[in-house]
Amino acid sequence: MLGVIQFITLACGLVISFFPDEIDRATQRWRHQDLAPSNSGHWPTDVSRDIFPARCHSHNDYWRRVPLYSALQAGCVGVEADVWLFDDELFVGHSIASLTPTRTLQRMYIDPLMKVLRRQNPTTHFHPTPDEPRNGVFDTDPSRSLILLIDFKTDGEEAFSYVQAQLSPLRESGYLTYYNGTGIVNGPVTVVGTGNAPFNRIAANTKYRDIFFDAPLDRLVDNVDRIDPSARLEERADNAGQGLSGISDAVIDPDTFDQTNSYYASVSFKKAVGIPWAFHLTDRQVQTIRSQIRAAHRQGLKVRYWGTPSWPRSLRNHVWRVLVREGVDMLNVDDLVSATRKEWTPRISDWWH
Ligand SMILES: *[C@@H]1O[C@H](CO)[C@@H](O)[C@H](O)[C@H]1NC(C)=O
Repeated sequence: MLGVIQFITLACGLVISFFPDEIDRATQRWRHQDLAPSNSGHWPTDVSRDIFPARCHSHNDYWRRVPLYSALQAGCVGVEADVWLFDDELFVGHSIASLTPTRTLQRMYIDPLMKVLRRQNPTTHFHPTPDEPRNGVFDTDPSRSLILLIDFKTDGEEAFSYVQAQLSPLRESGYLTYYNGTGIVNGPVTVVGTGNAPFNRIAANTKYRDIFFDAPLDRLVDNVDRIDPSARLEERADNAGQGLSGISDAVIDPDTFDQTNSYYASVSFKKAVGIPWAFHLTDRQVQTIRSQIRAAHRQGLKVRYWGTPSWPRSLRNHVWRVLVREGVDMLNVDDLVSATRKEWTPRISDWWH
């Protein structure tokens, strides 16, 4: 029964994260909420009062008409931004062609997050100092951290200091989850670097870290049945993509990644598990999933598969069910065909109202 509930929660979150137009209207509440508590009768933190966080990751969040706010409104616990460094500025977009001068990390994510979090951590006459730890973005679950997944699209080494610098308002206000040299101190926002995010830079400081790595899930297992064993021998470039950038392939062992330097352990479903040709996962594939999840959890990391099959629907549901049953923490579904939209829409309404 619990599994079913989990599955529905998950599916619901994913669907909402996919078709957020319906909820764009509602996000007006986030953006235009009167900041002065006195004249509305609202509590200062009223803005998220009836939103319950769902286990969903708003993939390519910036495609939404109202990025970030749509995800928050849906109760998504994770948002993703692809960032590109050009002319000393970090731009957000899926491809170079989609970049515009105003769509920057600062304007689309940092500033709005600061605004929401200031509202969630008010200082008033009766409450002169902010709560310790700070409240998160969800009123119904203030200790819940929002995962900001930053996908480094350009050179990771170069972009890293820019990302670090741009996070300073969040850092200075005590809004970031960090590692203090011995343990993790949870904050309202947990920043995870993926894509070309360089592991060496993330792990360099052994006393303080507030950007965490997206570890290569398939490399946490000792004897994993890899689809392409020769991949291991390939010469690694600095920008080798998710989980492999800024670290030499030869030094990766199952204990390299843990909570002190990483948050997610992720992998492409097709690469790590393979395509379920028979429209059903084989026992061997389920075994692979199981061992990957077990390995990641042993290291204290959250499991995220991306590129799971989206079609046909029965296969997608089957894969989701297996992943949820096996204990996956976050799913990305990024290639749902638009044709499926119609049949999904009524379901959103069913769940939403
Ligand atoms: C670091 O964080 C851990 C876990 O929150 C805590 O137990 C520990 O006291 C902290 N250490 C320092 C030096 O602040």
